[in-house]
Amino acid sequence: MLQGKRGIVFGVANEYSIAWAIAKAAHEHGAQLAITYQNERFEETVKKLAANLNESLVLQCDVSEDEQIVKVYDEIARQWGKLDFVVHSIAYAPRSALEGKLLDTRRDDFLLAHDISVYSFIAVTRHAVPLMTDGGSVLTLSYLGSERAVPGYNVMGVCKAGLEACVRYLAAELGERNIRVNALSPGPIKTLAARGISGFSRMLEIVKERAPLKRSTMQEEVGKMAVVLLSDYASAITGEVIYVDCGYNIMGL
Ligand SMILES: NC(=O)c1ccc[n+]([C@@H]2O[C@H](COP(=O)([O-])OP(=O)(O)OC[C@H]3O[C@@H](n4cnc5c(N)ncnc54)[C@H](O)[C@@H]3O)[C@@H](O)[C@H]2O)c1
Repeated sequence: MLQGKRGIVFGVANEYSIAWAIAKAAHEHGAQLAITYQNERFEETVKKLAANLNESLVLQCDVSEDEQIVKVYDEIARQWGKLDFVVHSIAYAPRSALEGKLLDTRRDDFLLAHDISVYSFIAVTRHAVPLMTDGGSVLTLSYLGSERAVPGYNVMGVCKAGLEACVRYLAAELGERNIRVNALSPGPIKTLAARGISGFSRMLEIVKERAPLKRSTMQEEVGKMAVVLLSDYASAITGEVIYVDCGYNIMGL
């Protein structure tokens, strides 16, 4: 489905990362990939994982630094000259902002969470556009906490609401270049980022009890849906937030 396409995946931390499941699925479907990791702490793990994907580029990118984003795209331009897709699978909020109440969120925590989790999506998309000469597909990861008040999700829910608005605005702006912009919204999955959400185990239990499919989502299922959105099979889909949550979001109680 992605034969002949080249894409960059931001946000691999370890084998449990949703970004890694997407990278694996995209690779299995024929894509050539560049993978980024945040900093030295993740370098060894990510390089080992990437060794399973032949000929993948592995690059460092802390998205809070404009220069690092520019460096990544300079390298892509040098090595490939063009780009077909971007996956943004990055979020961060300080632990202090994920405990207690949204009401008590400090200004610096709010700004940091939005910088990393929302602004970075605009930034990585902007730099991709000049390389997407044959159109393209851009994908980010959201969560139901964007539109429902999920206890413990706090400022990250506000970030995801902003992120989903970015999906729509960027889709509207980039449609004339045949660049599609979408989000996937998975149910709770045990990952490094999920560990920061207080009451996460309880969230998993509730989903297993109430979702129509009586279970939560697996990374691989997000990977499969990502491949569809990155491919030409989704050529008429843009500006959407697509749930991959075993149906949890449709339930009233
Ligand atoms: N796990 C879930 O339950 C779940 C559900 C819905 C949506 N999501 C979203 O999926 C995305 C991926 O999260 P995950 O669950 O795979 O966890 P993860 O911890 O594996 O991935 C989060 C990534 O963000 C990266 N990151 C954080 N700050 C960064 C920075 N300054 N620069 C560059 N990278 C940075 C981390 O290094 C990590 O690779 C996030 O947007 C998350 O909100 C997760």
